[in-house]
Amino acid sequence: MKIDSIRITNFKGIEKLETGVAKLNVITGPNGSGKSSALEAIRVGLTGRTAADTVKTNAPSGGVTLKLEKLGLLARTWEFGSGKSKITLNDKTTTAKSVTEMMKSLFNISPETANIATSSGVMLGLSSGDFSKYLLQEGFMKIQTDIDQLSSLCALTPEAEEELRNYLPCAPDPITPADIDEAHSYYFELRAAQRKEHAEASAKAKYTGVVPKRQVQEITKEQALTLEESGKIKSQTENYKTMQKNYEAHKKSLDEAREQMNKIDCKRPNEKHIETLTEQLAQSRKAATDNSSTIKVLEGNVSSLRKVLAGLGTSKCPISDKLTCTTDKTSVQGEVSESIESSEKKLAELRLEKETNAKKEEELSDLLEAERQNSLLYQKKLQLIQQVEALEKTDIKQPQEVDASQLPAIQSRLEILSEELTLATSYAKSLAAKKKADAAEKLSLLYDEITKALAPKSGIRQVMMESSAAPLAAHLNEQLNNLLPGRSVSIDTSDGFTVKVGDDAGGVISFDSASTSERTKIAIALFDMLNALSGFRIMMIDNTDSFDAESLGLVLDYVQDEETLDRYDSIFIAGVSNAELESAISGISNADCQIIRL
Ligand SMILES: Nc1ncnc2c1ncn2[C@@H]1O[C@H](COP(=O)(O)OP(=O)(O)O)[C@@H](O)[C@H]1O
Ligand SMILES: [Mg+2]
Repeated sequence: MKIDSIRITNFKGIEKLETGVAKLNVITGPNGSGKSSALEAIRVGLTGRTAADTVKTNAPSGGVTLKLEKLGLLARTWEFGSGKSKITLNDKTTTAKSVTEMMKSLFNISPETANIATSSGVMLGLSSGDFSKYLLQEGFMKIQTDIDQLSSLCALTPEAEEELRNYLPCAPDPITPADIDEAHSYYFELRAAQRKEHAEASAKAKYTGVVPKRQVQEITKEQALTLEESGKIKSQTENYKTMQKNYEAHKKSLDEAREQMNKIDCKRPNEKHIETLTEQLAQSRKAATDNSSTIKVLEGNVSSLRKVLAGLGTSKCPISDKLTCTTDKTSVQGEVSESIESSEKKLAELRLEKETNAKKEEELSDLLEAERQNSLLYQKKLQLIQQVEALEKTDIKQPQEVDASQLPAIQSRLEILSEELTLATSYAKSLAAKKKADAAEKLSLLYDEITKALAPKSGIRQVMMESSAAPLAAHLNEQLNNLLPGRSVSIDTSDGFTVKVGDDAGGVISFDSASTSERTKIAIALFDMLNALSGFRIMMIDNTDSFDAESLGLVLDYVQDEETLDRYDSIFIAGVSNAELESAISGISNADCQIIRL
């Protein structure tokens, strides 16, 4: 970024300074003349970042105006006391944000880079962590890797590498620290789950009993066979009981039927005899009826004859009561009496006959009834005979009794088997749990390896950072070799980002214990690195008076070097004007160079 001119008013120790800007600008003047103030003014002009005492004491306001290529006149002014600022770009009021955006889009320079790259004080005062953060934020240092590199950096076992390969992004996508953090928390959780599973399974795998001689399968097989055997005997016994019951019931029915059958005493019914008896009875009944009606007629006759006889004993005329009968009726009376007598005799005979008949009828009736009863019994017996025959036909044999004597032995065998099975099952379970525990342990160890390798504390980010910092350190040392022969710088990222200074003898000193001139030269090399990374192309070196003659010579040679000048748009060097500087300046041959004397 090229600065064409600078105008400073009431800025820190400078009341007024207006100057054009050459490629190489040497600012000289005695102590307190405002050299540092001038450099600070340029830095603040570019970045807008001020300290509390920016405005010269007692001046109402102070300001810096920079004429920049492409951008134009950028003016910043501050009110004394309040520190309120105003920004104009080409005389138009603008905002710090808008200027920042313009610088970013025109030169790809951030205020942070301008701030650091223009101040060795800021640069060397940065904490190591801040410096690496800055490099990362600006995208100067990309911390990334790929799975092959990551695997070798972490010294992963092939199993862990394969596991990670399946999880992390595939090439050509690089693996970033965010990917590693994500993978770390993923495996952290997996490890916890596997550890839990391992603990649970291990608890289940604990087995204190006797180790069984046989396996579950073998015992179950024997158990099934033994159960089958006992089931067979039991069902046979049940079967026997049913059969025996049936057999007994059958036998009882048969015995009862036989008994009933034998009990019935009867003869084969004589149908003819029954017929004859029936006929005789009918005849007898008919005769009785006839006899009765004859008796009735005769009795009527006798009664009539008695009336006639009585009438014959009086003188009454049988024709009319008014007449008197004088006829002798003795012979008639005799005839009537005779007739009555014979009728009575006949009646007596008939009545005797009736009685005889009644007896005979009763006898016949009894005989017939007896025949009927015999017939019924005979029917019943026939039925029973059929029943017995039917029962005899049903061939139910007495069942064979089952031998269940083995059953108690089988039962106790089953009990032993059941105990053996319980033992073998619990042993098998413990074996399965052990297997599970082993698998979980294996996984948890695998995840443990990965989790440890990827843990933020494990330093993998550090290792990645170092590998990213390595090319930066190489560039740094290439430049430093010209300025500080015999010294090399390593970027130690173990605690964020620190610069360590090594010597030829292999010793290492901290940056702080290096001399001022050494540190300044290192800062120059760092500027160089930043400029190479950012394209900012402005370098400022203050306090050359702290250099010894040789160092000053080296730095001045360095800034005048064609290659150096090619890499920068403007270089500012400030130092107390002393004999050494003056003689060095007098030797400057570059045309695009100016000396500003304060
Ligand atoms: N805000 C300020 N107002 C007035 N004087 C200041 C202010 N800030 C610094 N100074 C003075 O300005 C002088 C210039 O200092 P400096 O720029 O460091 O000079 P140099 O780097 O040439 O030695 C110093 O004497 C210092 O006290
Ligand atoms: Mg100074």
